[in-house]
Amino acid sequence: MDRLSLDELMSKRRSIRTYKADMPPDQWIEMMVRCATMSPSPSNTQPVRFLKISSTGIKERLHEDMAMGRQHLLKTLEERNGPKRLKNWIASYYRFSEFMFDAPLLFAAGTVKATTGFSKKLFEAGLIERYDRKDLDITTGLALKAFILKGEALGLGSCILTAPMVFISNIEKILGTEDLDIRCLITVGFPDEAPGPIQRKTVQEVFRTV
Ligand SMILES: Cc1cc2nc3c(=O)[nH]c(=O)nc-3n(C[C@H](O)[C@H](O)[C@H](O)COP(=O)(O)O)c2cc1C
Repeated sequence: MDRLSLDELMSKRRSIRTYKADMPPDQWIEMMVRCATMSPSPSNTQPVRFLKISSTGIKERLHEDMAMGRQHLLKTLEERNGPKRLKNWIASYYRFSEFMFDAPLLFAAGTVKATTGFSKKLFEAGLIERYDRKDLDITTGLALKAFILKGEALGLGSCILTAPMVFISNIEKILGTEDLDIRCLITVGFPDEAPGPIQRKTVQEVFRTV
């Protein structure tokens, strides 16, 4: 545990969608969250929050809402005579959402609505026209990377999910976290699959100098 180099951890990590039934220890989850708290954030505002969803009732409501969202999308698509391709995508992304209910641990990650930052302050003062919250997306990503990488170091698998957010209409209301903008869900547990390496872009493809 914790003996792999950073490069090894990064290259070994894959999204895990099938888990063993064993429950990861609470202390490990705390360690993952602690790593997330060490991430950079705009003016050190630290707006990212993690929520462990352990209530069966809440999970059931999420599942019901997700199924209703899928039905609504399919009905609208049918009414508009939309392409079959879209129907297949809806089916496929629904499948890539449902496994989260079988994972030992399910988390939501979000950012505090009341957070401030340089660009937000300027926007509120009317000095800039747009505040697109990109800084919060970046900040969430950094916290998530720390969270899942620490999990990887401990031998835990994880998967970040945003597809469910397309189906679920008001996740903050269901979770009772209306002070947060929920940005994704994350499953965590001991992996029960070992997906091999996948094609990654080369450095030349993603890096350029101007
Ligand atoms: C922002 C984000 C959203 C994602 N949403 C989903 C999702 O809804 N369902 C899912 O199964 N995987 C989801 N993934 C996992 C990606 O499919 C996965 O990271 C990608 O295919 C690369 O595979 P790897 O993580 O195994 O390297 C998401 C990943 C990210 C970063």
